[in-house]
Amino acid sequence: MNGTFNESFVGSIDQGTTSSRFLIFNERCEVVASHQLEFTQIYPQPGWHEHDPLEIVESVEKCIDGAIATFQAKGHSINAIKSIGITNQRETTVVWNKETGEPLYNAIVWTDTRTQALVRKLKEREGHEKLQSLSGLPLSTYPSAGKLLWLIENIPRVRDAYENGTLAFGTIDAWLIYKLNGATERDVFVTDPSNASRTLFMNIHTLQYDPVLLSFFHLDQTKVHLPTIVHSSDPKRFGSLSSTLLTGTPITGCLGDQSAALVGQKGFSAGQAKNTYGTGCFLLYNVGPSPVISTHGLLTTIAFDFQGQVSYALEGSIAVGGSSVKFLKDNFNFINESEEISALAETVEDNGGCVFVTAFSGLFAPYWIDDARGTIFGITTYTKRGHVARATLEATCFQTKAILQAMEKDSGKKLRELAVDGGMCNSDLAMQTQADLISIPVNRPAMRETTALGAAIAAGLAVGVWSSLKDVETLNADGRTTFNPAMTKDKADGMFALWEKAVNMTRGWTN
Ligand code: G3P
Repeated sequence: MNGTFNESFVGSIDQGTTSSRFLIFNERCEVVASHQLEFTQIYPQPGWHEHDPLEIVESVEKCIDGAIATFQAKGHSINAIKSIGITNQRETTVVWNKETGEPLYNAIVWTDTRTQALVRKLKEREGHEKLQSLSGLPLSTYPSAGKLLWLIENIPRVRDAYENGTLAFGTIDAWLIYKLNGATERDVFVTDPSNASRTLFMNIHTLQYDPVLLSFFHLDQTKVHLPTIVHSSDPKRFGSLSSTLLTGTPITGCLGDQSAALVGQKGFSAGQAKNTYGTGCFLLYNVGPSPVISTHGLLTTIAFDFQGQVSYALEGSIAVGGSSVKFLKDNFNFINESEEISALAETVEDNGGCVFVTAFSGLFAPYWIDDARGTIFGITTYTKRGHVARATLEATCFQTKAILQAMEKDSGKKLRELAVDGGMCNSDLAMQTQADLISIPVNRPAMRETTALGAAIAAGLAVGVWSSLKDVETLNADGRTTFNPAMTKDKADGMFALWEKAVNMTRGWTN
């Protein structure tokens, strides 16, 4: 039998853009069991991206039971799991009937660009220039606000629910917590500041919904139910599971996935940063207990709110990270498995003159070009699949460099090293390319389940599995790999200049 007698464990639901997972951590922050399921990606029209909210809940429940089967087979008892944390894709918008718990439409995913025209109109509305200083977010297709407005304006069932006061809105965390608690039965309707800060409805300074923001969007708060914002780590407010083999286990932690990854990387203090190469790619830089509002295209977000100990982060959000590799696999059959991308890219020495601006959802930070679309520049008869594979990996690395430059301008500080995680960081080639392009070392942990660990830490802190952040700081932290820059700065700068030229050429494509 593994584990020590009386050992405690913490479960972590990681509900991402392309898959749901459940992982169980021991007190040493090691993964003991896990289960993962992909779910359906719905693309009804170019630029539209939806998920079935009920399928998401079902996939999470199946993952819990799948991981528990492994956990028990290893000789552990369910009772040793003290609590559960939730981490999730952010901004993705779910609407449901507050009286029946029934979804009123598919979830609109964070990558979806259907609100492009609506956002353009909102940018003409008086008061739009105040939004970023209040909420931390620039107006774009990315936050939840535009998605909710679109649903109210375009879907009669949603509009009717709004008019008769039965409309509930939530990001995926709120939806999952509500459903996993048994929906209307117990009516646990909460979110945490790291998720609420992605809606454009929350005041980044007070951590509460702001009447100025709601009225900018002409939202009547008496007609739409918004989840109550509670601390990211709390022993009581998130309720407990009402289904699965873990029925009765309390949920005590909740963090948006990028905040969770920062926590999982133990980026607890100001000056620490991480870059997560998941479906998208997100660089979060901990700026400490006061928010820094960006003037260079970055977002201000909540790193964590652990019982009143709040840390803010500056964030550089890249819409397309690992999803570009998935695209080459699923749409163009370049590879059979995502892991093969490095081998394909290594069949050539460089990008052969190709630059791939992977703006499938427009370009996010620091450019914010809603009307850009994916474009490959520099194709000649010399171009091979390997060149395109290399250009694909480089696209995320170039955007990371642009974000780091913006972050230095906003924070006045230069990052000395970049901590990384997420699927694409498994590619040595991608991480070496990243180090080459940003001219600082890239540091990859041996323990890469940082997102799930972050939610487990939030949950474990609330029930005393760990007593403080200091307690977890050094756990399972050994064995990092460092990629040192090996390219001359001149060459890196030359490649980046070509990238920026390509970015400028994508402007106005869908205008
Ligand atoms: O803001 C979107 C982000 O939370 C999605 O994360 O890991 O699914 O790329 P991921």
